[in-house]
Amino acid sequence: MKILIIGSGGRESAFAYKIAQSSQLDKLFIAPGNPGTAQYGTNVPINVNDFDGLADFSKKEAVDIIVVGPEEPLVRGIHDFFSSQEDLKHIGVVGPKKAAAQLEGSKDFSKQFMIRHKIPTASFASFTKDNYEEGLKFLEQQKLPVVLKADGLAAGKGVLICETLEDAKTSFKEMLLNKKFGEASSTVVIEEFLKGIELSVFVLTDGHSYKILPTAKDYKRIGEGDTGLNTGGMGSISPVPFADPNLMKKIENQIIKPTIDGLKEERLPYKGFIFFGLMNVDGDPYLIEYNVRMGDPEAQSVLSRIDSDFVELLEGVVQEDLETRTYTVSPKIAATVVCVSAGYPGEYTKGDGIDNIENVEDSIVFHAGTAEKEGEIVTAGGRVLAVTSLQNTLFEALQQSTADAGRIFYKGKNFRKDIGFDLI
Ligand code: AMP
Ligand code: GLY
Repeated sequence: MKILIIGSGGRESAFAYKIAQSSQLDKLFIAPGNPGTAQYGTNVPINVNDFDGLADFSKKEAVDIIVVGPEEPLVRGIHDFFSSQEDLKHIGVVGPKKAAAQLEGSKDFSKQFMIRHKIPTASFASFTKDNYEEGLKFLEQQKLPVVLKADGLAAGKGVLICETLEDAKTSFKEMLLNKKFGEASSTVVIEEFLKGIELSVFVLTDGHSYKILPTAKDYKRIGEGDTGLNTGGMGSISPVPFADPNLMKKIENQIIKPTIDGLKEERLPYKGFIFFGLMNVDGDPYLIEYNVRMGDPEAQSVLSRIDSDFVELLEGVVQEDLETRTYTVSPKIAATVVCVSAGYPGEYTKGDGIDNIENVEDSIVFHAGTAEKEGEIVTAGGRVLAVTSLQNTLFEALQQSTADAGRIFYKGKNFRKDIGFDLI
């Protein structure tokens, strides 16, 4: 089987690592990939949104399955692009079509979907510049803090948690009238703040049945003790200790099943990953958001725990017989620590040489923002590397990943030394 992974981050490195272990694999390509994915397959220099380029390559190489890593090509309709053309539609695309990708592409769409299917979520209302004044009045009636969300994709930056009414009104104006997040904030969702502890649940579906993958928790803030600015994610652990059978049953019955049934009912074909961003509020799960892809850096922790052949599940998705497929999970605990560039999540430096990756023996080092320059691996993004280890206890896994993150060197390296320790 020939598989093409689309993307170039830590998540795609984890996909490449896992898929490369498959006995069914003949050839693995990653577009565009990074120096780390080149260990597992062949990188091809095609942009994730260059659908024509990806199509030509897939035809030339007789690709069987495409695994789409990031949300943007999905929201732009990569799956529809392939399935609507005679000479491409035999290629299985893991990732939803454009219509269902709106679950991530539009916060308003996803909230309306949750309401239609009675999925527990924070109360909300949506506004555009046409009912701006009404939005201000609505804000005055909300409890603080209050959450403002840009409707569209904003690279993880479109959510603001406002502690004061003044801050909320100013941000609301900036988003709607001054287009703080461009077109993404031409609609703004005002949402009730949920107080609880977050977790992520991942499901793989072929549109009929589904498999629940291992749970994970990510750490979004840049600073230790969950302080400072939001990032793409500074670390993750899997499984989540408080996701006990009782909570998981509620999540499945109240959130996962109604979602899968809702997609079927609304004729939104979905083949791919659904990422449920959840808040556990005193033992009751609420859905904060859908993502239509795996998480990053959750994928590094989740996929490294899957013991069986992962291609078996991907094949089940594209052939729509996922129900007949099985998979096994390691009882070990995974911990991922992300090494970032100096300045991230603000402006950051690039092009600094990375040393000592080869000295890491007991963790997997997934590349994210790296590049090759004159034979040397250099930094090339905000999140540079993700260091994942699997151990018998959460404590040991965290110790291992943190120690190994410390063994790698580049100028201005930063990583959190407290990932997961709140759960011990
Ligand atoms: P999102 O981009 O929707 O993932 O939101 C980013 C982060 O904002 C989430 O991971 C939560 O930590 C936080 N957040 C979003 N919505 C809420 C909410 N209604 N209540 C509390 N925190 C929220
Ligand atoms: N780590 C959160 C995300 O991938 O959206």
